[in-house]
Amino acid sequence: MGIKILGMGCYLPEQKLTNDDFTRFVDTNDEWIRTRTGITERRMAGWEPTWYMGKEAALKAIEKAGIAPEDIGLVVAASATSDFHTPTISCIIQNETGAVNAAAFDVNAACSGFVYALDTARRFLETDKSMKYVLVVAAEALSRFIDFEDRSSCILFGDGAAAAVIERSDALYTSHLGADGSGSHLLYARCVNVAEEVKVESDFDDGFPEKRLHKLYQNGKEVYKFATKALPKAFTLAAEKAGITPADIDWFVPHQANVRIIETAAKNLGVPMDKFIITLDHYGNTSSASIPLALCEAIDKGTIKRGQKLALIGFGAGLTYAGAIFEY
Ligand code: UT7
Repeated sequence: MGIKILGMGCYLPEQKLTNDDFTRFVDTNDEWIRTRTGITERRMAGWEPTWYMGKEAALKAIEKAGIAPEDIGLVVAASATSDFHTPTISCIIQNETGAVNAAAFDVNAACSGFVYALDTARRFLETDKSMKYVLVVAAEALSRFIDFEDRSSCILFGDGAAAAVIERSDALYTSHLGADGSGSHLLYARCVNVAEEVKVESDFDDGFPEKRLHKLYQNGKEVYKFATKALPKAFTLAAEKAGITPADIDWFVPHQANVRIIETAAKNLGVPMDKFIITLDHYGNTSSASIPLALCEAIDKGTIKRGQKLALIGFGAGLTYAGAIFEY
C-alpha cells in the first residue's frame, strides 16, 4: 500500500538572518559559510511558537488538499524543538486546525523526523481502514536552542514548518527507518529543567560532554562522517526492498544540512546533483522541517510533478536515518 500526498503547506518566519549578520556574534564570514556549507541565509522565529508554525503550515496543507479537517483521523507532528515537554504540538495543531476526530502524537527523530512521521502515518492508514486522511507536520524553532557563541554550529540552523495531508493509494511505497544510538552524544540539546541544573553540573559523567543547559552541541566532523554514509544507506536500504535503483528516482529530497554532504551522497549513489532538491541555501538546516519544506517548495514551483518517483532521505541526531520512496 502506498500513500498519496493530497496537499502540502509551509510556514517560514519573516525574519531572515544572512551570513553577514553572524559576523556580529562570532568570528566568521560569508565566504566560509557559503563554501563550507552552501548556506546563504536562514529564517529565525521571533514570537512564533513551534506549534504556531506547524499550525500555519497544516492549515495550508488542508486547504490545498481540499478536505474537511473533521475527516483527518490522525495528526503526527515531528519536532525536536517542541514548545512543551507536554502537551505535544500535534494536540495543539489538532485543536487549531479543527481536526476534532483525529488522534494526535509527536515523533522526535530529530532531522529524520518527517520521514519517521510519514512512515508511521502510512502504517496507520494500512492497518486502520476507518482512517481516511493523516496530517503529517514538521515544525522546528532551532533558534531557541542554538549556541550563538559556537561559530561551527550556529551558522547552520534555521526555523520553519511544513505539513502534508496524505491518504492511501495503490502506488509504490517502500521505506527504511534506522538508528545508531552509539552516536547519541554527537549531537544533542539537553531538556530545559531548572531543578536539574545542580545535577547536570555535578561530577556525574553522563557521556554527554556539553553540560550547559539546553544549548545545541554538535561534533560537526563526526556528524559529517555519519551523514555522508547515512544518506546513501537510508536510500539503498529502502530501495532494495522494492528492487528500485537510483536511476528509477525522479527526485531525491535529502535532509538539508550541508551541500557538501549531499554532493558526497550523490556521488556515492551515482546520481547527478540536478536530481537533488536543494533549499538549504535560503533556509539552512531546519531539522525535521527541512525535507518537507524542500518538497513543498519543489511542488509549488512545479518542479515535482504527479506520478514522479521521490526518494526522501534523512539523517540526524540520535543518530537516526530514514528513507521513503513513493510516487507523488
Ligand atoms: O542536521 C544535523 C546534522 N548536522 C550536520 O550535518 C553537520 C555536519 N557537519 C558539518 O556540516 C561540518 O562539519 C561543519 C559545517 C559543522 C564544519 O565544517 P568543516 O569543514 O568540518 O570545518 P571544521 O570543523 O573542520 O573546521 C575547519 C576550520 C576550523 O579552524 P582551524 O581549526 O582550521 O583553524 C574551524 O575553527 O574552520 C573553522 N570554522 C569556522 N571558520 C569561520 C568553524 N566554523 C567556522 C565559521 N566561520 N562559522
